[in-house]
Amino acid sequence: MPYQLKSASFENMKGASAKIEQSYLEAVAWDDGCAVDSVRNEYIIPFLVKLLTRERKPTILDIGTGTGYIPRSVDTMLTYRPHWTLVDTEPNRILVAEQRLPSDMQCTCLIGDIARIAGSGRTFDAVLLTFTLLETRDAEVMLDWAIQSLSEDGVLVVVIPDVWRDALAAAQIDPSVPHRLLDEAIDMRKIDKFTGSSYPFFALRTETLISTVLKFACVLENLLAVGCQNEVTCPPAVPRS
Ligand SMILES: C[S@@+](CC[C@H](N)C(=O)[O-])C[C@H]1O[C@@H](n2cnc3c(N)ncnc32)[C@H](O)[C@@H]1O
Repeated sequence: MPYQLKSASFENMKGASAKIEQSYLEAVAWDDGCAVDSVRNEYIIPFLVKLLTRERKPTILDIGTGTGYIPRSVDTMLTYRPHWTLVDTEPNRILVAEQRLPSDMQCTCLIGDIARIAGSGRTFDAVLLTFTLLETRDAEVMLDWAIQSLSEDGVLVVVIPDVWRDALAAAQIDPSVPHRLLDEAIDMRKIDKFTGSSYPFFALRTETLISTVLKFACVLENLLAVGCQNEVTCPPAVPRS
């Protein structure tokens, strides 16, 4: 298995080769899953392409990029060439990101915690947090890091899943979940729809997140809710005649 990276550096990878191989295969499966995910392909990517085409932000940070599926896809649809910084704590996801980068994408891939980058004082014109915020134990701290990484006129894009839908599903096992969600963050692991592995998920109401962003003196520009019956397999949207 090749682990040759162009710009990423490895952390915490010594002495675990079977585990590493397993996580590499999971990363590949995860990236392949993204390619048929209608939420990413029909909503998030077109939204980002429209936003970035309008704003032409030169530097973009993607926090918790996974395999970089979203930035790689967005980059191929832009009419200008931004510089991307992709960060993830999972080395194999970054490895897959690097292996699948479009050849003309200007990109730095970094393995590690966003806390390190945010602490370095470096800023970006756009910061993306897609499906990453609620995977971290303290969403408020993650938002703080993201906002610290923004330049003065920078734009932050946050994408989260429908927390109430997850809470209602969890209520089948623990009926107290929806009531508790009114007042607190709830620690409930989820099963990844692409790989079947479980991952951390800390459910928090959207209103709480919005209040947190506003506390950091940001302006809320846009709020979109999208729904999709079958998130993985629904066919591409057909334009209305
Ligand atoms: C569900 S994946 C989302 C990937 C991608 N943003 C997308 O939407 O396709 C969340 C990713 O965030 C990463 N992550 C979680 N906490 C992080 C942190 N503190 N710093 C960097 N990456 C983090 C995880 O390793 C995981 O790959």
